[in-house]
Amino acid sequence: MGRQLQRDSILHITEINKRINRYRDLDSLLNHVLREARQLTAADAGSIYMIRNGCLSFEYVQNDSLAGPGHSPDFLYQHQTVEMDHRSIAGHVAITQRPLVLDDVYRLPPGVPYTFNPSFDQKTHYRTRSVLTVPLLNSRDRIMGIMQIINPRDRQKKDTVFKRDDEAIVTYFANLAAVAIEKALLTREIILRMIKMSELRDPEETAPHVNRVGAYSVEIYHRWAWEQHIDENQIQRTRDLLRIAAMLHDVGKIGISDSILKKRGKLTSAEFRRVQLHTVYGARLFTDVTSEWDEMAAQIALSHHERWDGTGYPGAIRDLSTPPRRLGPGLRGESIPIFGRIVALADVYDALMSQRSYKPCWKESDVLEHIENQRQGHFDPAVVDAFFAAYPVIQSIQKKYGNGNLSGG
Ligand SMILES: [Fe+2]
Ligand SMILES: [Fe+2]
Repeated sequence: MGRQLQRDSILHITEINKRINRYRDLDSLLNHVLREARQLTAADAGSIYMIRNGCLSFEYVQNDSLAGPGHSPDFLYQHQTVEMDHRSIAGHVAITQRPLVLDDVYRLPPGVPYTFNPSFDQKTHYRTRSVLTVPLLNSRDRIMGIMQIINPRDRQKKDTVFKRDDEAIVTYFANLAAVAIEKALLTREIILRMIKMSELRDPEETAPHVNRVGAYSVEIYHRWAWEQHIDENQIQRTRDLLRIAAMLHDVGKIGISDSILKKRGKLTSAEFRRVQLHTVYGARLFTDVTSEWDEMAAQIALSHHERWDGTGYPGAIRDLSTPPRRLGPGLRGESIPIFGRIVALADVYDALMSQRSYKPCWKESDVLEHIENQRQGHFDPAVVDAFFAAYPVIQSIQKKYGNGNLSGG
């Protein structure tokens, strides 16, 4: 690498590193790390695999040629794992912990132990050519995952191969990004433990349920925000905050007694009034700290049972520390915070699509009909529109977090 180029690249990467350190949600962080790494090399596509249960799990994919404007393409949530061995490019890099540059994955050099898996290309009709793969190592030099940068483009936007410097630049960037990734993994772990604690109390509030509600909410929000012409940077920042805040919508159930939460059969009206207080208890957990995220988490916990037509709960609460004996009347229309309106729909959709102890799951067509009928009733019509516009990606999220995928990827 030339000296000037090296100095410029290091300064540039230091700037990027400051930016990525602002992200606290693992998904948003990985998304941005990938985007920045691709920009460094003018690459058309890229993906990140993270280690999960001893395998490499395909977590993130970006592809400018395949993506449309204003929404996440549904291949984003596809679920695929790769064994940790030398048979795949990803596995080979994870084991050797060394970067690897290949000019054309369909023409691998003779004698290499790995092969290229063309299934993504076959499914999407994409042509993967030049691939740069780097390991993501934590502070103890343990492998956390790998990042692949795919198909660099020249100034005329034509396919080219990676330049000599690209490997060094991306590896340097990946080493800095790994610090932020390690931090985000830890935050995610702590939140998942918080969720597990509430799961112990309420058996319906499972990790796959909260993962799905978090992911649905983000995608519904993205569509909604796009329709409202909200700036793309603002959308990305909000996605980051919303995902985890939405996952914690029912964390206030920690404050409800077992005899009510685990009761089989119908609740008495007094018991139901106790359950309704989970909204207030949840909001209370986030009111001591005043970051943007805490504010959003408090709003969601408090307002995810409000209904657009004003028949929900808890309504306006003046003092969270001493909630009134009787809640209500519910907030109505746009006086309900938008994130509460979004999580309300995501939560109901997921509850109806799932089997619960007190009910079987509904048929998908019945669920969609119910949501359509509740436009103006339970749900904000603009949120219903965003939900249907995002439906292909909602379906792929459902497949990804179908059963017991605890990690939230
Ligand atoms: Fe709830
Ligand atoms: Fe829920």
